[in-house]
Amino acid sequence: MKLVTTPIEIQAYAHDYRAKGATIGLVPTMGWFHEGHLSLMRKAGTMTDKLIVSLFVNPMQFGPSEDLDKYPYDLDRDCRLAEEVGVDLLYAAEKAVMYPEEFATTVHVKGLTSGLCGGSRPGHFDGVTTVVAKLFNQTLPHIAVFGEKDFQQLAVIRKMVTDLDFPVEIIAHPIVREESGLAMSSRNTYLQDDEMAAALSLSKGIALAKDLVKSDRNVTVKLVIDGVSRNILSHRECEIDYVEIVDKTTLRPCTQITTASVLVLAVKINKRIRLIDNSLMIEG
Ligand code: PAF
Repeated sequence: MKLVTTPIEIQAYAHDYRAKGATIGLVPTMGWFHEGHLSLMRKAGTMTDKLIVSLFVNPMQFGPSEDLDKYPYDLDRDCRLAEEVGVDLLYAAEKAVMYPEEFATTVHVKGLTSGLCGGSRPGHFDGVTTVVAKLFNQTLPHIAVFGEKDFQQLAVIRKMVTDLDFPVEIIAHPIVREESGLAMSSRNTYLQDDEMAAALSLSKGIALAKDLVKSDRNVTVKLVIDGVSRNILSHRECEIDYVEIVDKTTLRPCTQITTASVLVLAVKINKRIRLIDNSLMIEG
């Protein structure tokens, strides 16, 4: 595996791969790899000839009071893990080369970004789409794999790719969970032992919602949301950012539960750790 740190260098590799007829898979990440990231990498690796993983803690997608400064980072550790899963190029650019002082462009996707995480993290998705557009232009991938845990992010990136005609196929990978049910996330590293029960209230909320729908296919959206919210709030550490049931494509609130309905949750634990999770209400 090679470690590459500049856009010029990574683009040269990508052009070379393409000139030789190789297909390129990209997995964009912010590092601190866990099994969720590694499974995205394995998936991209089986679909393409060359696997590029980007590792960039993107300051543009963090708000002023968010966790940019303490976001976990260990390049040696991540290099080792990436090498083990067969990554060809680990692309870890510095902030100064990604966003030189004169940088002045923002990619903004309207509509899909206004609610859910976009509502509570203003500007977040502009940061995501801007950096992902740059990464696509730098690494020239045929496919890019994203996790379904960031459900809204996936929808927003798909829209950007369609609207801006990026010749990249977006592949979604299911949420990878701990045995406990907790959705894997680099931010789980902030959780203390005594915060685990609160953290698990998200996946337990999903299980409860599915049970309610299974036992009554006509259960109302309100009843499900109220049940899930009550359960989450029974943990004093939890503060709900949102609990909603939305259409999987438009992200608009559902009026009734259908096969397109997704329960989406964002919960803050002890005001420090913001966790998200989601699930289709009716699987298969
Ligand atoms: O999902 C993430 O880790 C980030 O939002 C991404 C897509 C790498 C962009 O910085």
